[in-house]
Amino acid sequence: MTPPIDFNDRMLSLGLARVTEAAAHASASLIGHGDEKAADQAAVNAMREQLNALEIKGVVVIGEGERDEAPMLYIGEEVGTGEGPAVDIALDPLEGTTLTAKDMPNALTVVSMAPRGTLLHAPDVYMEKLAIGPGYPKDVVSLEMTPSQRILELAKAKGVTPRDIQTCILERDRHKELIEEVRSTGASIRLITDGDVAGIIHTAETWLTGIDIYMGSGGAPEGVLAASALKCMGGQMWGKLLFRNDAERGRATKAGITDFDKIYSRDELVTGDVIFSMTGVTNGSIVKGVHRTPDYIETETVLMRSKTGSVRRMSYRNPIKRRDY
Ligand code: FBP
Repeated sequence: MTPPIDFNDRMLSLGLARVTEAAAHASASLIGHGDEKAADQAAVNAMREQLNALEIKGVVVIGEGERDEAPMLYIGEEVGTGEGPAVDIALDPLEGTTLTAKDMPNALTVVSMAPRGTLLHAPDVYMEKLAIGPGYPKDVVSLEMTPSQRILELAKAKGVTPRDIQTCILERDRHKELIEEVRSTGASIRLITDGDVAGIIHTAETWLTGIDIYMGSGGAPEGVLAASALKCMGGQMWGKLLFRNDAERGRATKAGITDFDKIYSRDELVTGDVIFSMTGVTNGSIVKGVHRTPDYIETETVLMRSKTGSVRRMSYRNPIKRRDY
């Protein structure tokens, strides 16, 4: 086993919490205002400013898009002061732009950080995803199994009937058959309109969320963020890149991917230790959303380190106008 790399993760994790807090603060006044772009831009600006204050030699490997399509936090952008450890950054300043614009649950701001070269440079294509929480035998389910086999195996391992298994799936036309097959086993499904990073994280805290298993396709970049979270919380995950055309295969080649059929395990999506921070924007089952009063803004952040498996919940209250106390 290779020894863990010290990337000053203990101290940097607190700085990472500021990064997601700032992004959530910035998008707070745009919750429910129907403007996805404005909410996302506010989060991007705030996140970038905070990342640049960290003592790191950071490179964005999962970001807002390719350099020619995203002016800030694009893939390959260098962030941080340029001093300190060399790290990869995966980020989504606003995971669930539509959820934010419509004030629907589970919009988050998320960032993960790991030693340079240890986060998969996932291209902006879809990924077939499968995730379960901690405590199950290794490979109890797999992407090679049919959806109904996965439910049956998981139910057996949990010691319950398939009816007691709750699945989480993105509500999309492309998932019609998947949904029908899962329902045919008797399992229940929580359909979500967006936000599969939260959907996957839900499997790691079944007692809180009720979700046992996540399946279906969504963004590949979000897959790396979800794998970062599960690496800290425990749980198994697999992802396979899906390509619709040659342009998407080209994106993968540019990102250094050669095996287009590979199934990535959690630890192949994130090969080393990682730190992960998420702050709630709208209320969710794992973190509370931003709470605004005329005097202050309050956020809730979950900050985690894979090296220790520590999960820290922090609430942060900031006066809107500094008063004399
Ligand atoms: P945005 O935050 O960019 O709106 O993405 C949300 C999301 O739901 C992700 O969580 C998910 O991976 C992806 O979009 C699914 O993509 P699609 O909407 O094309 O099915």
